[in-house]
Amino acid sequence: MTDTIFPDTALEEGVFKKEGVEFNISPSHDLETLAELGKDADALLVVYAKISAELIHKLNNCKVIVKAGIGYNNIDVKAASEKGIIVANVPDYCQDEVADHTFGMFLALARKICHLDSQVAKGTWDANQGKDAPRLRGKKFGLLGCGAIGQQVALRARAFGLDVVGYDPYSSSELLSKHHIDKIDDLEEFLHDVDYLSLHLPLTEETRHIIDKSSLEKMKESALIINTSRGGLVQENDLYAALIEKRVAGAALDVLEFEPPRSAPELSSLSNVIITPHTAFLSQDSVSELRTKASQEVAKTINHGTPKNRVN
Ligand code: NAI
Repeated sequence: MTDTIFPDTALEEGVFKKEGVEFNISPSHDLETLAELGKDADALLVVYAKISAELIHKLNNCKVIVKAGIGYNNIDVKAASEKGIIVANVPDYCQDEVADHTFGMFLALARKICHLDSQVAKGTWDANQGKDAPRLRGKKFGLLGCGAIGQQVALRARAFGLDVVGYDPYSSSELLSKHHIDKIDDLEEFLHDVDYLSLHLPLTEETRHIIDKSSLEKMKESALIINTSRGGLVQENDLYAALIEKRVAGAALDVLEFEPPRSAPELSSLSNVIITPHTAFLSQDSVSELRTKASQEVAKTINHGTPKNRVN
């Protein structure tokens, strides 16, 4: 195991003991340490450590790299594939948590809950500060990426009377209409139309900075942006400028381009921005499900040759 954000590794050790797999966790995830400890390993279990091509070239025995999570943009999948290493992830453990967090952030932003709460804590009791909140019913909620999490967010948005539209070049209109999402094929038209934009797509070379100055310029001045996917999807300086210049109305972010940020992000100084520290996937139930499934995926590949959720 290259790294973890969880307090111990008891759960992983339990699974590996049962499956007859020897387990070690690396004391740090710099390239040299991982290369030294990983050179003879049969498998890597990874949370956020960067698994670069340089590291992959130094793995002499590795058959599988398992990402304990959904987004595997920290793993150089191309380099792994070229070396014949299987890459797998855990795609099905936190759809409800991320959808709840997305919608919770959206409601907090639209209803100005965090801003009002901080005013009350400072001794200001001023109901007028909430008067500019929009009515949600009938507005357009836009999903950029309409996979498993986007579909769950759509369910929640519909319950609040929002019209749900989606942009996803890899999903058919038939599939999206089953989830009550109206597909828009043109990204420019989609950005122009939506009142609220929520990001639910992977970070890839194609999608990096998909939200930048030029896409922000296409959006309504009243638009709110929610990102619970990956920080690199949004050009943060462009978002900051658009918020300062009131070209968009607010943002709720669970993910940032650099995590953890070196200092408090400039964006968090704005009253119309909410930031949480990449917690959308977390709940008491999701964490144990993730850790168990990720460890089982390693053991399954070592013992039986194929994982359940191969991504390459
Ligand atoms: P998914 O794979 O089910 O759905 C992703 C969708 O994005 C697919 O329908 C795909 O066709 C679409 N897509 C790909 N490229 C696109 C593009 N250029 N434009 C528009 N759509 C595009 O993934 P799922 O489970 O919905 O997760 C989405 C993302 O959420 C993950 O990639 C991950 O980065 C992030 N995530 C964040 C968590 C958090 O704690 N903040 C936890 C779990 C996932």
